Amino acid sequence: MTSNAVPSNALLDVPPGLKGVAVADTELGSVRGFEGFYHYREFDAVELARSTSLTDVWWLLMHGSLPTAAQSASFEQEVGGNRVVDLDGGLVAAVASATTAPHLALMSLLPLVAPEGHPTTDLTDDERRVIASRLTAAVPTLLAATHRLRRGLEVVPPDPTLGHAADWIRMTLGEAVSPQRVAMVEAYLTATIDHGFNASTFATRVVTSTGADVAAALCAGIGALSGPLHGGAPSLALSMIDEIGDPSETERWVRDRLGAGHKIMGFGHAVYRADDPRSLLLREVAERHGGELVERAIEIEGRILAVMREWKPDAVIVTNVEYYAGIVLHLAGLTPDLFTSTFTVSRVIGWAAHLVEQAGNNKIVRPSARYVGPEPTRGVAPAVPA
Ligand code: COA
Repeated sequence: MTSNAVPSNALLDVPPGLKGVAVADTELGSVRGFEGFYHYREFDAVELARSTSLTDVWWLLMHGSLPTAAQSASFEQEVGGNRVVDLDGGLVAAVASATTAPHLALMSLLPLVAPEGHPTTDLTDDERRVIASRLTAAVPTLLAATHRLRRGLEVVPPDPTLGHAADWIRMTLGEAVSPQRVAMVEAYLTATIDHGFNASTFATRVVTSTGADVAAALCAGIGALSGPLHGGAPSLALSMIDEIGDPSETERWVRDRLGAGHKIMGFGHAVYRADDPRSLLLREVAERHGGELVERAIEIEGRILAVMREWKPDAVIVTNVEYYAGIVLHLAGLTPDLFTSTFTVSRVIGWAAHLVEQAGNNKIVRPSARYVGPEPTRGVAPAVPA
């Protein structure tokens, strides 16, 4: 043993929640909180969302470079084809009615799209990409079908000739929407594909590291994302704007909420200490659309930030992605019950890329926990409690 090696029973302590701990190397991207910047590979993620199609960015993350025109066209076609899933309609309806939330239905149905169940670590890189792309592309189809079935509406099958964002909206709403609305949703989807080592990305990589099959690893991401501290509550910022109503009510409303110990949704971030660039992008998208709600949201945002500065003068509390995400998705015609599902449609692309990266250079993730219970007795059979 070298002098700086850890003795066999010693544990390294890390901060709660692994905050600030690097647990992997990645070439996929990162978040630079103090600079208000995040990127996908070597590209500014916000600039990609402004200029590049969702499927081209998807390709970038899966293959390492932006596609040529020919690769772009054939990938768009492949994704469209993969949205068509061959599942028994009765089974989908049964799962939709037996589950209480979209992510539960998705976790039940997704494995059926690629039921082969090969250990991810036994596959080649190309095989992982093919299976991950099949599953990733099927996510909007399954979410839209279960969403509509739960409401007693007929399922709208995918149209492989449409773009991924356009078809997601059409399959959920039952009708095509204007190119402007599609562009709003596409900007949101592209901007939210990946964002550092967030909980759902980590969960996907942990499950991948065990050699579990691709669907099992993606389901880990779906489960993690569904929690309200991650992707499970994006509609709350929109309902806050609704509740505040007149902007002049903002200060009173926010102080009341803070006084009662509540968080103000859409504000604050664990990593950003400068503006959240996703919120700036989505505010820009909302402003381009314009209208009373957007004007009111902008005024309320300024007032909330002022109260937060006064309330926590030593903290940097910025507007986060959720504040304008709800507005943009609402303006595009999506209802709040579809917001978390829409987030899943984009983030699953990031999970798939992380899965391919993890499996390509795998080491099982197996940390330890510090035992803090009563001292164990060795070799003593427990007495039956009286
Ligand atoms: N409402 C009320 N208090 C907030 C706040 C908010 N939106 N955002 C931060 N704070 C408080 C924190 O609780 C912390 O208080 P403390 O010093 O008493 O512990 C202080 O401001 C500094 O917080 P910070 O360290 O910058 O962030 P964090 O890691 O503790 O919290 C969030 C980050 C995202 C959990 C937090 O900002 C939050 O709950 N926001 C609202 C929910 C939301 O919009 N989530 C979507 C995130 S993309």
